[in-house]
Amino acid sequence: MASDVRVRAHAPGRVNLIGEHTDYTGGLALPMAIDLGTTVIGTRSLSGAVHDVRLRSADADGEAVVGPTVSDPAGLNPAWARYVAGVVHELRPTIGFVGDVTTTVPIGSGLSSSAALELAVALALGFDGSAYELAALAQRAEQVASGVPCGIMDQLASAAGVADHALLMNLTTLAVEPVPVPESAAIHVIHSGQHRQLAGSAYGDRRASCERATTIVGPLLDASVADLDAIDDDETRRRARHVVTENARVRAFAAAFRAGDLATAGAIMIASHTSLRDDFDVSTAVLDALVDRLAKTAGVHGARLTGAGFGGCVVALAEPGALREGWLVRASAGASVTTLE
Ligand code: GLA
Repeated sequence: MASDVRVRAHAPGRVNLIGEHTDYTGGLALPMAIDLGTTVIGTRSLSGAVHDVRLRSADADGEAVVGPTVSDPAGLNPAWARYVAGVVHELRPTIGFVGDVTTTVPIGSGLSSSAALELAVALALGFDGSAYELAALAQRAEQVASGVPCGIMDQLASAAGVADHALLMNLTTLAVEPVPVPESAAIHVIHSGQHRQLAGSAYGDRRASCERATTIVGPLLDASVADLDAIDDDETRRRARHVVTENARVRAFAAAFRAGDLATAGAIMIASHTSLRDDFDVSTAVLDALVDRLAKTAGVHGARLTGAGFGGCVVALAEPGALREGWLVRASAGASVTTLE
Protein backbone atom coordinates (compact mmCIF):
# COMPACT_ATOMS: atom_id res chain seq x y z
CA MET A 1 0.00 0.00 0.00
CA ALA A 2 1.35 3.46 -0.90
CA SER A 3 2.12 5.67 2.08
CA ASP A 4 0.68 9.15 2.61
CA VAL A 5 2.56 12.22 1.43
CA ARG A 6 2.72 15.60 3.14
CA VAL A 7 2.83 18.62 0.85
CA ARG A 8 2.94 22.41 1.02
CA ALA A 9 1.34 24.31 -1.86
CA HIS A 10 1.50 28.07 -2.17
CA ALA A 11 -0.22 30.42 -4.64
CA PRO A 12 0.08 34.21 -4.76
CA GLY A 13 -2.70 36.74 -5.08
CA ARG A 14 -2.35 39.28 -7.85
CA VAL A 15 -2.74 42.96 -8.44
CA ASN A 16 -3.66 44.17 -11.89
CA LEU A 17 -1.57 47.22 -12.80
CA ILE A 18 -3.59 47.95 -15.93
CA GLY A 19 -5.85 46.18 -18.47
CA GLU A 20 -9.15 45.91 -16.61
CA HIS A 21 -12.18 44.10 -18.04
CA THR A 22 -10.18 43.16 -21.12
CA ASP A 23 -9.31 39.52 -20.39
CA TYR A 24 -12.66 37.98 -21.36
CA THR A 25 -12.56 39.93 -24.65
CA GLY A 26 -9.20 38.42 -25.62
CA GLY A 27 -7.49 41.74 -24.87
CA LEU A 28 -4.32 42.84 -23.09
CA ALA A 29 -3.63 43.04 -19.35
CA LEU A 30 -0.62 43.68 -17.13
CA PRO A 31 -1.08 42.07 -13.70
CA MET A 32 1.61 40.82 -11.35
CA ALA A 33 1.60 38.03 -8.78
CA ILE A 34 2.20 39.54 -5.33
CA ASP A 35 3.87 38.61 -2.07
CA LEU A 36 0.53 38.04 -0.37
CA GLY A 37 -0.62 34.49 -0.90
CA THR A 38 -2.44 31.38 0.21
CA THR A 39 -0.78 28.24 1.55
CA VAL A 40 -2.22 24.75 1.88
CA ILE A 41 -0.32 22.26 4.02
CA GLY A 42 -1.65 18.76 4.36
CA THR A 43 -1.55 15.07 3.62
CA ARG A 44 -2.43 13.32 0.39
CA SER A 45 -4.07 10.08 1.39
CA LEU A 46 -2.37 7.72 -1.04
CA SER A 47 -3.17 4.85 1.33
CA GLY A 48 -6.87 5.34 0.60
CA ALA A 49 -7.80 5.92 4.25
CA VAL A 50 -9.52 9.23 3.37
CA HIS A 51 -11.64 9.75 0.24
CA ASP A 52 -12.81 13.32 0.53
CA VAL A 53 -10.99 16.64 0.70
CA ARG A 54 -11.05 18.24 4.17
CA LEU A 55 -9.58 21.65 4.80
CA ARG A 56 -9.66 23.98 7.78
CA SER A 57 -8.87 27.66 7.40
CA ALA A 58 -7.07 29.85 9.91
CA ASP A 59 -8.67 32.92 8.33
CA ALA A 60 -12.26 31.95 7.60
CA ASP A 61 -14.95 30.09 9.51
CA GLY A 62 -15.99 26.52 9.12
CA GLU A 63 -14.44 23.52 7.41
CA ALA A 64 -14.47 22.57 3.74
CA VAL A 65 -15.51 18.95 3.36
CA VAL A 66 -15.83 17.94 -0.27
CA GLY A 67 -16.62 14.46 -1.54
CA PRO A 68 -14.90 13.18 -4.68
CA THR A 69 -18.05 13.36 -6.83
CA VAL A 70 -19.28 16.82 -5.83
CA SER A 71 -21.91 17.91 -8.34
CA ASP A 72 -22.92 21.41 -7.22
CA PRO A 73 -19.92 23.36 -5.83
CA ALA A 74 -21.96 26.60 -5.65
CA GLY A 75 -24.36 25.01 -3.16
CA LEU A 76 -21.72 24.29 -0.48
CA ASN A 77 -21.11 26.02 2.85
CA PRO A 78 -19.08 27.74 4.18
CA ALA A 79 -18.78 29.99 1.12
CA TRP A 80 -15.00 29.53 0.78
CA ALA A 81 -15.55 25.76 0.50
CA ARG A 82 -17.19 26.42 -2.89
CA TYR A 83 -13.80 27.23 -4.41
CA VAL A 84 -12.32 24.05 -2.97
CA ALA A 85 -15.31 22.15 -4.37
CA GLY A 86 -14.89 23.89 -7.74
CA VAL A 87 -11.33 22.54 -7.94
CA VAL A 88 -12.42 19.03 -6.94
CA HIS A 89 -15.21 19.23 -9.53
CA GLU A 90 -12.73 20.07 -12.30
CA LEU A 91 -9.74 18.00 -11.16
CA ARG A 92 -11.57 14.85 -10.03
CA PRO A 93 -8.67 13.80 -7.76
CA THR A 94 -8.40 10.09 -7.08
CA ILE A 95 -7.02 10.67 -3.58
CA GLY A 96 -8.36 12.18 -0.39
CA PHE A 97 -6.65 15.11 1.34
CA VAL A 98 -6.62 16.53 4.86
CA GLY A 99 -5.00 19.86 5.55
CA ASP A 100 -5.00 23.49 6.62
CA VAL A 101 -5.26 26.74 4.68
CA THR A 102 -3.68 30.04 5.67
CA THR A 103 -3.72 33.24 3.69
CA THR A 104 -2.26 36.73 3.73
CA VAL A 105 -4.44 37.88 0.80
CA PRO A 106 -7.25 40.14 2.02
CA ILE A 107 -10.39 38.14 1.26
CA GLY A 108 -12.87 39.43 -1.31
CA SER A 109 -11.02 42.69 -2.01
CA GLY A 110 -10.01 42.41 -5.65
CA LEU A 111 -6.60 40.80 -5.06
CA SER A 112 -7.74 37.36 -6.24
CA SER A 113 -7.99 35.58 -2.92
CA SER A 114 -10.23 33.02 -4.61
CA ALA A 115 -7.76 32.36 -7.45
CA ALA A 116 -4.95 31.89 -4.91
CA LEU A 117 -7.08 29.38 -2.99
CA GLU A 118 -8.01 27.48 -6.15
CA LEU A 119 -4.41 27.16 -7.35
CA ALA A 120 -3.04 26.18 -3.94
CA VAL A 121 -5.74 23.51 -3.57
CA ALA A 122 -5.23 22.15 -7.10
CA LEU A 123 -1.46 21.81 -6.55
CA ALA A 124 -1.95 20.29 -3.10
CA LEU A 125 -4.29 17.69 -4.63
CA GLY A 126 -1.63 16.71 -7.15
CA PHE A 127 -2.45 18.74 -10.26
CA ASP A 128 0.34 18.15 -12.76
CA GLY A 129 0.52 20.31 -15.87
CA SER A 130 1.61 23.62 -17.32
CA ALA A 131 0.98 27.01 -15.72
CA TYR A 132 -1.60 27.70 -18.41
CA GLU A 133 -3.41 24.37 -17.77
CA LEU A 134 -3.42 25.09 -14.05
CA ALA A 135 -4.89 28.55 -14.66
CA ALA A 136 -7.55 27.19 -17.04
CA LEU A 137 -8.60 24.54 -14.51
CA ALA A 138 -8.79 27.12 -11.73
CA GLN A 139 -10.78 29.51 -13.95
CA ARG A 140 -13.37 26.78 -14.57
CA ALA A 141 -13.39 26.07 -10.82
CA GLU A 142 -14.05 29.76 -10.10
CA GLN A 143 -16.88 29.84 -12.62
CA VAL A 144 -18.67 26.79 -11.22
CA ALA A 145 -18.10 27.95 -7.63
CA SER A 146 -19.24 31.56 -8.03
CA GLY A 147 -21.46 31.57 -11.11
CA VAL A 148 -19.45 34.56 -12.39
CA PRO A 149 -18.26 34.17 -16.02
CA CYS A 150 -14.77 35.44 -15.15
CA GLY A 151 -11.81 35.61 -17.50
CA ILE A 152 -8.48 33.86 -16.91
CA MET A 153 -6.28 36.81 -15.90
CA ASP A 154 -6.35 36.23 -12.13
CA GLN A 155 -5.56 32.54 -12.29
CA LEU A 156 -2.91 33.00 -15.00
CA ALA A 157 -1.17 35.75 -12.99
CA SER A 158 -1.06 33.50 -9.93
CA ALA A 159 0.21 30.53 -11.97
CA ALA A 160 2.76 32.32 -14.16
CA GLY A 161 4.14 34.94 -11.74
CA VAL A 162 7.78 35.99 -12.04
CA ALA A 163 9.65 37.69 -9.16
CA ASP A 164 10.20 41.42 -9.75
CA HIS A 165 8.21 41.34 -12.99
CA ALA A 166 4.72 42.26 -14.11
CA LEU A 167 3.16 40.00 -16.75
CA LEU A 168 2.13 41.42 -20.10
CA MET A 169 -0.69 39.11 -21.20
CA ASN A 170 -2.30 38.77 -24.58
CA LEU A 171 -5.53 36.94 -23.77
CA THR A 172 -6.10 35.97 -27.41
CA THR A 173 -2.78 34.19 -27.95
CA LEU A 174 -2.28 33.54 -24.19
CA ALA A 175 1.30 34.79 -24.54
CA VAL A 176 2.73 36.04 -21.24
CA GLU A 177 5.74 38.33 -21.38
CA PRO A 178 7.49 39.34 -18.12
CA VAL A 179 8.10 43.10 -17.86
CA PRO A 180 10.59 44.19 -15.16
CA VAL A 181 9.12 46.37 -12.42
CA PRO A 182 11.38 49.44 -12.20
CA GLU A 183 13.31 49.59 -8.93
CA SER A 184 12.03 53.10 -8.28
CA ALA A 185 8.40 51.92 -8.42
CA ALA A 186 6.57 51.45 -5.13
CA ILE A 187 3.27 49.65 -5.74
CA HIS A 188 0.64 50.04 -3.03
CA VAL A 189 -2.74 48.39 -2.80
CA ILE A 190 -5.21 50.36 -0.71
CA HIS A 191 -8.61 49.10 0.35
CA SER A 192 -11.41 51.57 -0.25
CA GLY A 193 -13.27 50.36 2.81
CA GLN A 194 -16.16 49.46 0.53
CA HIS A 195 -16.79 45.75 0.43
CA ARG A 196 -16.71 44.60 -3.17
CA GLN A 197 -20.07 43.58 -4.47
CA LEU A 198 -18.98 41.60 -7.50
CA ALA A 199 -22.57 41.15 -8.28
CA GLY A 200 -22.12 38.34 -10.78
CA SER A 201 -24.95 39.96 -12.69
CA ALA A 202 -23.11 43.28 -13.21
CA TYR A 203 -19.97 41.45 -14.33
CA GLY A 204 -21.97 39.22 -16.66
CA ASP A 205 -23.75 42.27 -18.01
CA ARG A 206 -20.42 43.97 -18.90
CA ARG A 207 -19.20 40.81 -20.53
CA ALA A 208 -22.41 40.55 -22.56
CA SER A 209 -22.00 44.18 -23.76
CA CYS A 210 -18.50 43.34 -25.01
CA GLU A 211 -19.78 40.24 -26.77
CA ARG A 212 -22.51 42.29 -28.49
CA ALA A 213 -19.91 44.80 -29.65
CA THR A 214 -17.71 41.99 -30.95
CA THR A 215 -20.51 40.58 -33.10
CA ILE A 216 -20.75 44.02 -34.78
CA VAL A 217 -17.09 45.12 -35.15
CA GLY A 218 -15.13 41.87 -34.74
CA PRO A 219 -12.44 41.24 -32.08
CA LEU A 220 -12.03 44.37 -29.94
CA LEU A 221 -8.26 43.83 -29.82
CA ASP A 222 -8.14 44.60 -33.56
CA ALA A 223 -10.72 47.41 -33.49
CA SER A 224 -10.05 51.16 -33.47
CA VAL A 225 -12.20 53.75 -31.70
CA ALA A 226 -13.44 54.88 -35.14
CA ASP A 227 -14.63 51.32 -35.91
CA LEU A 228 -16.99 51.58 -32.93
CA ASP A 229 -19.15 54.14 -34.80
CA ALA A 230 -20.79 51.09 -36.36
CA ILE A 231 -22.40 50.34 -32.96
CA ASP A 232 -25.76 52.14 -32.66
CA ASP A 233 -26.44 51.50 -29.00
CA ASP A 234 -24.72 54.17 -26.92
CA GLU A 235 -24.08 52.02 -23.84
CA THR A 236 -22.61 49.14 -25.86
CA ARG A 237 -20.39 51.59 -27.77
CA ARG A 238 -19.08 53.18 -24.56
CA ARG A 239 -18.27 49.85 -23.02
CA ALA A 240 -16.46 48.70 -26.15
CA ARG A 241 -14.60 52.02 -26.20
CA HIS A 242 -13.29 51.28 -22.71
CA VAL A 243 -11.89 47.96 -23.91
CA VAL A 244 -10.35 49.37 -27.10
CA THR A 245 -8.71 52.30 -25.31
CA GLU A 246 -7.66 50.11 -22.36
CA ASN A 247 -5.80 47.74 -24.70
CA ALA A 248 -3.89 50.75 -26.05
CA ARG A 249 -3.17 51.88 -22.48
CA VAL A 250 -1.71 48.48 -21.59
CA ARG A 251 0.76 48.75 -24.48
CA ALA A 252 1.68 52.33 -23.55
CA PHE A 253 2.02 51.50 -19.84
CA ALA A 254 4.30 48.51 -20.58
CA ALA A 255 6.49 50.75 -22.77
CA ALA A 256 6.65 53.42 -20.05
CA PHE A 257 7.50 50.80 -17.41
CA ARG A 258 10.29 49.42 -19.59
CA ALA A 259 11.65 52.94 -20.02
CA GLY A 260 11.39 53.61 -16.28
CA ASP A 261 9.05 56.54 -17.06
CA LEU A 262 6.80 56.32 -14.03
CA ALA A 263 5.20 59.74 -14.51
CA THR A 264 3.78 58.56 -17.85
CA ALA A 265 2.79 55.18 -16.41
CA GLY A 266 0.94 56.95 -13.59
CA ALA A 267 -0.92 59.25 -15.97
CA ILE A 268 -2.02 56.19 -17.96
CA MET A 269 -3.39 54.63 -14.75
CA ILE A 270 -5.50 57.73 -14.10
CA ALA A 271 -6.83 57.55 -17.67
CA SER A 272 -7.70 53.89 -17.09
CA HIS A 273 -9.66 54.74 -13.97
CA THR A 274 -11.54 57.50 -15.78
CA SER A 275 -12.48 55.09 -18.56
CA LEU A 276 -13.64 52.46 -16.05
CA ARG A 277 -15.71 55.14 -14.33
CA ASP A 278 -17.24 56.91 -17.32
CA ASP A 279 -17.32 54.35 -20.13
CA PHE A 280 -17.47 50.99 -18.36
CA ASP A 281 -19.50 52.01 -15.29
CA VAL A 282 -17.73 49.78 -12.75
CA SER A 283 -16.40 52.40 -10.32
CA THR A 284 -18.09 53.80 -7.23
CA ALA A 285 -18.04 57.24 -5.57
CA VAL A 286 -15.83 55.80 -2.82
CA LEU A 287 -13.26 54.44 -5.30
CA ASP A 288 -13.32 57.72 -7.26
CA ALA A 289 -12.68 59.78 -4.12
CA LEU A 290 -9.78 57.52 -3.09
CA VAL A 291 -8.16 57.71 -6.54
CA ASP A 292 -8.57 61.52 -6.56
CA ARG A 293 -6.98 61.87 -3.14
CA LEU A 294 -4.06 59.60 -4.03
CA ALA A 295 -3.49 61.37 -7.35
CA LYS A 296 -3.06 64.66 -5.44
CA THR A 297 -0.60 63.16 -2.95
CA ALA A 298 3.04 64.22 -3.38
CA GLY A 299 5.17 61.43 -4.84
CA VAL A 300 2.21 59.43 -6.22
CA HIS A 301 2.44 58.96 -10.00
CA GLY A 302 -1.04 57.53 -10.48
CA ALA A 303 -3.79 55.29 -9.12
CA ARG A 304 -6.79 53.35 -10.34
CA LEU A 305 -9.32 50.79 -9.20
CA THR A 306 -7.98 47.26 -9.55
CA GLY A 307 -9.93 44.06 -10.21
CA ALA A 308 -13.55 43.97 -11.23
CA GLY A 309 -14.55 47.23 -9.50
CA PHE A 310 -17.81 47.87 -7.58
CA GLY A 311 -15.72 48.47 -4.42
CA GLY A 312 -12.58 46.70 -3.20
CA CYS A 313 -9.07 48.00 -3.78
CA VAL A 314 -7.18 50.73 -5.59
CA VAL A 315 -3.61 50.27 -6.87
CA ALA A 316 -1.23 53.22 -6.64
CA LEU A 317 2.17 53.74 -8.26
CA ALA A 318 4.40 55.92 -6.09
CA GLU A 319 7.94 56.92 -5.29
CA PRO A 320 9.42 54.75 -2.53
CA GLY A 321 8.47 56.20 0.85
CA ALA A 322 5.81 58.58 -0.52
CA LEU A 323 2.81 56.57 0.71
CA ARG A 324 2.30 55.09 4.13
CA GLU A 325 -0.98 53.31 3.57
CA GLY A 326 -2.22 50.05 2.21
CA TRP A 327 -0.09 47.04 1.36
CA LEU A 328 3.29 47.71 -0.26
CA VAL A 329 3.46 44.74 -2.63
CA ARG A 330 6.30 43.21 -4.63
CA ALA A 331 6.02 41.10 -7.76
CA SER A 332 6.48 37.47 -6.81
CA ALA A 333 6.94 34.03 -8.35
CA GLY A 334 3.95 31.92 -9.35
CA ALA A 335 2.25 29.04 -7.57
CA SER A 336 4.30 26.01 -6.54
CA VAL A 337 4.14 22.83 -4.49
CA THR A 338 6.78 20.97 -2.51
CA THR A 339 6.82 17.63 -0.77
CA LEU A 340 7.54 17.80 2.96
CA GLU A 341 9.63 15.20 4.75
C1 GLA B 1 -12.15 39.85 -12.08
C2 GLA B 1 -12.14 38.64 -13.00
C3 GLA B 1 -11.01 38.77 -14.03
C4 GLA B 1 -11.08 40.11 -14.76
C5 GLA B 1 -11.22 41.26 -13.76
C6 GLA B 1 -11.46 42.58 -14.44
O1 GLA B 1 -10.97 39.91 -11.32
O2 GLA B 1 -11.95 37.46 -12.26
O3 GLA B 1 -11.11 37.70 -14.95
O4 GLA B 1 -12.12 40.12 -15.70
O5 GLA B 1 -12.28 41.04 -12.84
O6 GLA B 1 -10.35 42.97 -15.18
